[in-house]
Amino acid sequence: MTTTPLPSRSQRLKAATATIHDTLDRRIMALDPFSSTERYLRFLRAQQAFHAALAPLYAAPQLWTLIPDLAERDRSAAIAADLADLGASAPVVADGDSVEPVDMSTALGWLYVAEGSSLGAAFLLKAAQQIGLSTDHGARHLAGHPEGRAAHWRRFTARIDAADMTPEQEDRMIAAARDAFARFRALADAAFA
Ligand code: HEM
Repeated sequence: MTTTPLPSRSQRLKAATATIHDTLDRRIMALDPFSSTERYLRFLRAQQAFHAALAPLYAAPQLWTLIPDLAERDRSAAIAADLADLGASAPVVADGDSVEPVDMSTALGWLYVAEGSSLGAAFLLKAAQQIGLSTDHGARHLAGHPEGRAAHWRRFTARIDAADMTPEQEDRMIAAARDAFARFRALADAAFA
């Protein structure tokens, strides 16, 4: 008799946020962010605001036991360099409330969304290259990790899977991931308004 393995926690998280990811993905493509540098800059500003809100999590030493390479995963510096490449300076989209590291499950839900966006970024990088951007100019934050996007991602999801969590904590993580997708959506809408 064969048994189907139960989904891992990160697989459950993916399933619980698949619809909201798809909706966001379609919304972003409808905003046509790769049709011109001017529109791409708007997308970049949404990214900048999203990552600025998450900065306290990436910098939280209490999360480094769980995710040892967390600080170096932060793409804020690459986003700032992309903005500088394109001659943009001060952010024009309000960041919204920053996400403080008060609860491990909530932090993991937000980080899941930020880290996962790097996995899907392979597609976005190809589109950015069509308008003359590259991982050396304007689209640095869309670059894959030297170890490979998939391997880098699996090291992150392995940490989610290994974390000691109650079902209630897992529910909080899922709710936080949904909040994170909703935040990105609001920031993208503001950036393209
Ligand atoms: C037009 C925009 C987007 C497209 C086309 C897109 C596409 C994708 C694709 C193809 C994957 C799967 C990659 C793989 O398995 O190799 C993925 C994963 C993911 N994306 Fe996006 N994405 C977009 C925007 C975003 C944004 C803005 C966020 C977050 C704010 C995001 C969060 C995620 C997450 C969390 C995953 C990982 C899902 C998992 O495997 O658990 N995506 N995306």
